[in-house]
Amino acid sequence: MSGMKQRPLERPAPSAFHKHWPLARGIVFLNHGSFGACPKPVLKLQADLRRKMEATPVQFLWRHYEEWLEPARVALAKFIRVKPRDLVFVTNATVGVNAVIRSLKLRPGDALLTTNLDYNACRNIVVETARRAGAEVQVAEVPFPLERAEQVVEAILEAVTPRTQLAMIDHVASNSGLVLPVERIVRELEARGIDTLVDGAHAPGMLPLAVAKLAPAFYAGNLHKWVCAPKGAGFLWVREDKQAGVEPSVISHGHNTPRPGFTAFQDRFDWAGTFDPTAWFCVGAALGWMGQLLPDGWRELRQRNHALAVAARRLLCRRLQLEPPCPASMLGAMATLPLPDRFQGAPKAGKIDPEQLRLYDEFGVEVPFMRFGGPGRRWFRISAQIYNSLAEYEYLAQALQLL
Ligand SMILES: Cc1ncc(COP(=O)(O)O)c(C=O)c1O
Repeated sequence: MSGMKQRPLERPAPSAFHKHWPLARGIVFLNHGSFGACPKPVLKLQADLRRKMEATPVQFLWRHYEEWLEPARVALAKFIRVKPRDLVFVTNATVGVNAVIRSLKLRPGDALLTTNLDYNACRNIVVETARRAGAEVQVAEVPFPLERAEQVVEAILEAVTPRTQLAMIDHVASNSGLVLPVERIVRELEARGIDTLVDGAHAPGMLPLAVAKLAPAFYAGNLHKWVCAPKGAGFLWVREDKQAGVEPSVISHGHNTPRPGFTAFQDRFDWAGTFDPTAWFCVGAALGWMGQLLPDGWRELRQRNHALAVAARRLLCRRLQLEPPCPASMLGAMATLPLPDRFQGAPKAGKIDPEQLRLYDEFGVEVPFMRFGGPGRRWFRISAQIYNSLAEYEYLAQALQLL
């Protein structure tokens, strides 16, 4: 922490569940969205697994690897409703999106479609892959603020042309926090012969998921965000008819070493060279532990987080006289709001917004400030996880007034 002076506002209490997370006391952590946060029991399991790995490295990483991997894959497959044979772990959504986009056999004149709400790292994959192939990038301009989910579908379909090969569509858009109507989008694009890659970085654990029923060509997601697995746990699901064409960015043993009982797709992805696979091995435990916190399990957890995000947004709008930029029905467990007027228009400086850093240094609040949707337009995004309390958003409102 910098030497900035701390303001004398009394810190609010988080929820009673906060004790299960190693999150720093005295920090009002309202940014679960960026990197997630892993609870203590799951981290303990990971530490135990790491001890086993270091005690008998060859037995753990080679002989018994699949015995740890498979239960995690089966648990995740059940959670996102897919067949395990179509599912592989990757270290994060960026890796999954890279594998899909960089495997495309594009010809000059082909087009890849994305939206103005996409995530910068994934936009870069699309732009660079298109550039190398002489292909075009089409950007669907979704209005934000917006009133109806239908406006997203309209903007995407307007941008489509006969040259569009694939569309990369976020399930939950990062900057805006919008939940996009992916069922409609996938159906409409399929009907036009266009494959969809759903970038579901935020969706697992935040939204109910039935990926095989949604049936896009490709779905990439993170587990270290809303499933609360250790960092380095993501997945890629590929529809069976598309699997032969998808190569991992890292070629390793699986390319010529099939294992009985595994698909060639799994062989190619399951081992990308020596690494620490314990985050993947903990996925089943994270799903199980998070799923037993409330009587009605994951469903209640998702609904509770959504309800808290909506209540927090309402509170902030009232305290700071802000207009919500989208209907509550388009939110999951995050919400983006415009920063109050006096913050608008300031020029960009540094990797992290300087006023976001002041909010952390002076008030101990972790909340991202973002710029998008027009020159000088500035926003902030709240997340709601079970360890948060409404009092923490009240404190954020006070802190923003004093900043
Ligand atoms: C929509 C979206 N895609 C991709 C990512 C990248 O996630 P990761 O850095 O874990 O690969 C994020 C991260 O926040 C995201 O919001």
